[in-house]
Amino acid sequence: MSRPAVGTAAFHRRDGALFCEDIPLAAVAERFGTPTYVYSRRAIVDAFGAYAAALAGRRALVCYAMKANSNLAVLDLLARVGAGFDIVSGGELARALAAGGDPRKIVFSGVGKTEDEIRAALRAGIRCFNLESAPELDRIQQVAAALGMQAPVSVRTNPDVDPKTHPYITTGLRQNKFGVAYAQTLALYRQAARLPNIRIVGIDCHIGSQITEVAPYVDAAAKLLDLVDALSREGIALEHIDFGGGLGIAYRDETPPAPGALIAAILAQVDARGHGDKEIVFEPGRSLVGAAGALLTRVNIVKAGTEKNFAIVDAAMNDLLRPALYDAWMQVQPVQAGTGATQRYDIVGPVCESGDWLARDRDLALAAGDLLAVLGAGAYGMSMASNYNTRGRPAEVMIDGDRIYEVRRRESVEALFAGESTLP
Ligand code: LLP
Repeated sequence: MSRPAVGTAAFHRRDGALFCEDIPLAAVAERFGTPTYVYSRRAIVDAFGAYAAALAGRRALVCYAMKANSNLAVLDLLARVGAGFDIVSGGELARALAAGGDPRKIVFSGVGKTEDEIRAALRAGIRCFNLESAPELDRIQQVAAALGMQAPVSVRTNPDVDPKTHPYITTGLRQNKFGVAYAQTLALYRQAARLPNIRIVGIDCHIGSQITEVAPYVDAAAKLLDLVDALSREGIALEHIDFGGGLGIAYRDETPPAPGALIAAILAQVDARGHGDKEIVFEPGRSLVGAAGALLTRVNIVKAGTEKNFAIVDAAMNDLLRPALYDAWMQVQPVQAGTGATQRYDIVGPVCESGDWLARDRDLALAAGDLLAVLGAGAYGMSMASNYNTRGRPAEVMIDGDRIYEVRRRESVEALFAGESTLP
């Protein structure tokens, strides 16, 4: 039960108590209440370091896919160590800039960019738009022309490879809405090359998320490099090749490759095909922040049922949606060594939905008032949180050695309806 925390030494036990870096999680709960997201600064910086080390000596850019966790402190930390950002909305652009991100290191993905978003990104001077359709190309051309600017673009091709992950987070299959069909990609580049306010800078793909094998990446890379060759034969030279994100983490017993192993496999292909001169871009999200975070929650009521025992905690599906949405297994650990007898529990929240659960069939010794930590919650935790059931979202804290920084205060109930009004 007290197995080591997922993928990182950021969360560990000292004398039976769960710590993040040098801070006991019980102290976090005491000071900030629960539920609270807790992040380790060191774990985030180290995770980025693994990518940076594997790319050392190359022209390369790691654009953090900030949808995984867009807290300003997380963005600031990653910007400071040299990360760029992969954004998918005008809101994310504003966050990246507010956190001090360099616009020249921002790539803008997403299938539904609006004119306003395109304008804002052009004015900010982003590195490129990752184009996902022909109509989007026309729209970017129009907006850029109106501003008298040149828009840098990269086509996100859909290589149609199976990343062997959850169907909701597969993105590079023919039936997915993402990217430009592989067979239509060259034609779109030709069209882009003729437009006066478009400047072609790269190519990219992103095949899915929580990928735990190297093979799908190698397949996608081969297809991407075929396109790079075809483009260069037509006189369309690219500055960069973006292999997307998607590398998984170990929530339970998965064995994803280390970033270094994945990158080495891809770089070997890049070099073998004679494209070592191109800048290499990656867009990791989860693998930079997932293992660096935990959701700290307190057991409110222990309810013994006839079929099942329920530990009703103060965090719910609105705070951490992954179990409800993807049937995701996330590790739950007691913050202090349990005292009572071990029993089998479903860990559920107070929200009025049967789908409101965080973990099922876990053998834990617990009592009302105990603290639990859901590990591997640094990615797609807070960033997917909602206010369902008029619940304010959790506080977020960043641990740095023996210091605790509140990087987002708990949302107050008043704030939840501050923008609403009754009829006159
Ligand atoms: N680039 C693009 C264009 C993406 O769409 C994504 C994620 C990433 C990069 C980063 O992927 P990552 O390295 O984090 O796997 N909410 C789901 C995951 C959705 C991923 C969406 N796209 C989850 O909680 O598992």
